[in-house]
Amino acid sequence: MKHKNLKPFSNNFLWGASTSAYQVEGAWNEDGKGPSVMDMREEFPEGTTDFKVASDHYHHYKEDVSLMAEMGFKAYRFSIAWTRIIPNGTGEVNSKGIEFYNNLINELIKYNIEPIVTMYHFDLPHVLQEKGGWSNRETIEAFVEYAKVLLNSYGDRVKYWLTINEQNMMIMHGKALGILDSNLEEVDCELYQQNHHMLVAQAKVIDLCHQMLPAALIGPAPNIAYVYPATSKPEDVLAAQNFNAIRNWLYLDAAIYGRYNATAWSFLEEKGYVPTIVDGDMDILQKANPDFIAFNYYATKTVEASVEDGNEKIGTGDQEIVIGEKGVYKGHSNPHLPTNDFGWQIDPVGFRATLREVYERYQLPIIITENGLGAIDKVEEDGSINDTYRINYYKQHLEQMQLAITDGVDVFGYCPWSAIDLISTHSGAKKRYGFIFVDREEFNLKELRRIPKQSFYWYKDVIASNGESLDY
Ligand code: BG6
Repeated sequence: MKHKNLKPFSNNFLWGASTSAYQVEGAWNEDGKGPSVMDMREEFPEGTTDFKVASDHYHHYKEDVSLMAEMGFKAYRFSIAWTRIIPNGTGEVNSKGIEFYNNLINELIKYNIEPIVTMYHFDLPHVLQEKGGWSNRETIEAFVEYAKVLLNSYGDRVKYWLTINEQNMMIMHGKALGILDSNLEEVDCELYQQNHHMLVAQAKVIDLCHQMLPAALIGPAPNIAYVYPATSKPEDVLAAQNFNAIRNWLYLDAAIYGRYNATAWSFLEEKGYVPTIVDGDMDILQKANPDFIAFNYYATKTVEASVEDGNEKIGTGDQEIVIGEKGVYKGHSNPHLPTNDFGWQIDPVGFRATLREVYERYQLPIIITENGLGAIDKVEEDGSINDTYRINYYKQHLEQMQLAITDGVDVFGYCPWSAIDLISTHSGAKKRYGFIFVDREEFNLKELRRIPKQSFYWYKDVIASNGESLDY
């Protein structure tokens, strides 16, 4: 649809950016922090660093927040490391961990930056993983106990809460993310049991948040990407419906409507992945009412029909590269879309399509909590970093987001990935996302100096003009 006039971004639009604890903080075993599954990860793709020092944000947070303030951030989305707060997953609370996030939140508030807190971003406590992780139903209560500590400690200053980052990618791409327990037998069946436990845990925490903090707002934070059929062949359209239902709507339907959608459920039945649902679970799901939807968007997905039988996956992939399911859908590379240096497709128009679809389906306000371009940035001889490719990426996505707003979608914030350079989930330090360069290499930490990139100055203008000035 063409519009004669574009609707402006709202006056209190939450411009900001995101990070996650294990990718940015470092200090993995300092001040009483316990190990998470990310700290204990043993296998890394060749030539890529672990997460132990990352961007050392733990020791640089004041400098980092002051740079965010210089950009004019209205919000900063970060995650809390469960093992900094409760080192063993349950039980004793670590006062030094509580203190760190108190300091971070106070620093943000000093600059009028709204803290947006993700409770859990891939870094399950290692002690809980040893006890079965999300396969163990007791992890539900552990998450509720942890969430209660967060709501108690920070609820006086934090209004926006996100439950679980990209639960759908943990289930579909746990291996690529480095969080799949290698001891799991009948992996997929077990993963959908874990998924169910996470859905219950999330619903309990949403309800708890509403009881404890009536003025707070809380929502889920999956990775949502609209799925296109490869062609207009009816079988391809069905495949796209299948993948939309399994990848996207399963997670949002459960969080918002408290039910499994019919297509996803029939997929679970067909494959033999139906989870054990204990009496009362569906009531818990239905009782929880998120206040908004946060979602991460990188690019749409495209699939074609799969006529094969069996339960094995088709191909290999990561959170942005589709792994097919025999008889259900098969990944297809969209010939109309360019790719980034790491093989991920780029689809700004698909961003508008995804926003429209999510809003029409759920009618809840939306905040974008990730979107961004992973690239290999270069420091020029004069010290500048000219990441015009990143600016172009953002510009195109912001244009499409404004079109979606004009289409009637209620978007109240944009926090792309990432505020500062951090360690990618599986491509190490070289795959950079930040507005702020962190001067380190894979295995040479150098001085971890912070250098604003060209995109830093561009985004500063975008925010100052409330999204009116997108050119550079
Ligand atoms: C999302 C995650 O899947 O994508 C982030 O929430 C991640 O943790 C981001 O870093 C980009 O992915 P990658 O693999 O390039 O780091």
